[in-house]
Amino acid sequence: MKILEIKQNASLQGLNSLALPAYAEYFCSVTDISQIQQALAFAADKDLPITPMGGGSNMVIAGDIQGLVLHLDLKGISSKPVADNQVEVTFAAGENWHEMVQYCLQNGWYGLENLSLIPGNMGAAPIQNIGAYGVELCDLFVSLQAVEISTGELIELDNKQCDFGYRDSIFKQAFKDRFLITHVCLRLSTQPMAQIQYPALADAVGDRTPTPELISETVCRIRQQKLPDPGTLPNAGSFFKNPLVTESGLDRLESNGSQSPRYPQADGTYKIPAAWLIDQCGFRGQRRGEVGVHEHQALVLVNYGGTGAQLLALASEIQDAVSAKFGVALEIEPRLYGV
Ligand code: EPU
Repeated sequence: MKILEIKQNASLQGLNSLALPAYAEYFCSVTDISQIQQALAFAADKDLPITPMGGGSNMVIAGDIQGLVLHLDLKGISSKPVADNQVEVTFAAGENWHEMVQYCLQNGWYGLENLSLIPGNMGAAPIQNIGAYGVELCDLFVSLQAVEISTGELIELDNKQCDFGYRDSIFKQAFKDRFLITHVCLRLSTQPMAQIQYPALADAVGDRTPTPELISETVCRIRQQKLPDPGTLPNAGSFFKNPLVTESGLDRLESNGSQSPRYPQADGTYKIPAAWLIDQCGFRGQRRGEVGVHEHQALVLVNYGGTGAQLLALASEIQDAVSAKFGVALEIEPRLYGV
């Protein structure tokens, strides 16, 4: 059994993609299930709340985190062929998402190409059902394994039990803060396939044959043009969810004469790009001290060296402006900590 190292007063600045300065009262990195159990026992003994952490790319840490921050760093990949030219691949939670997309492509396991270059780790992917360019994790997801924080017991949940929605799952609802995801199993195809209905992707592919390799390269190129690399300019990807509005909400939104892009949903509502709403309010490229709005994607807030509180002040300024101009409430997409 590997001995667990638990640090006190550990800086989290290098571990969150927004590079926000904050400390964890206690911190440990766990690499297997026995270490998870040791960490849970330590926390139970001291009556500490647990904050799980993966790649740190969807966290807004606005202040110090009390209790134990538990960094899930389990590694490993296994695969088994299943019927109909498919393969089930199980990834440990600490594997980096984009490295796994590339690994699968190299092995001839297809389906993840549209999700290339999404930051973060495998274990966090189901929590918000990551999605991009017309594909969501739930389209490929088979099951996951998780440890229940209160009992230390391992459970398995299938696709239906995870109750996936747009940037949503049971882990943001009924199971919020109750489990640590340790492994994720996805079903991929051994036959090349192409999902290129998303307009920006279809345009960029043009009339070339959409091989999985071309799709992955194209998605990487589009993302690199619009989305800042967290290593160079700290950010957490989209800062707000794209809001859904009803027909009357759409009329109100357009009452000042502007015609917004909209994506009709099955339930009769429309998804409106939050980036467009923010852009219309003049925020793209704006800076407030050491935080700002990215110049190429109005949905991405960036940190030039500021704090979580400054970032949240900018987020509220944006929410107020969008609400006043369009009557639409923007919901913050990453999770807030230390508030
Ligand atoms: N737009 C603007 N101004 C901007 C950027 C975009 O007006 O500065 C408008 C354009 O009309 C554009 C539309 O917004 O056509 C949509 O923009 P884009 O295709 O870039 O997608 P998005 O809706 O802004 C979503 C996801 C991204 C994902 C892309 C591609 C959410 C919250 N965001 O962004 O996910 O990569 O689609 O599929 O659903 C993330 O979650 O962190 C993330 C980056």
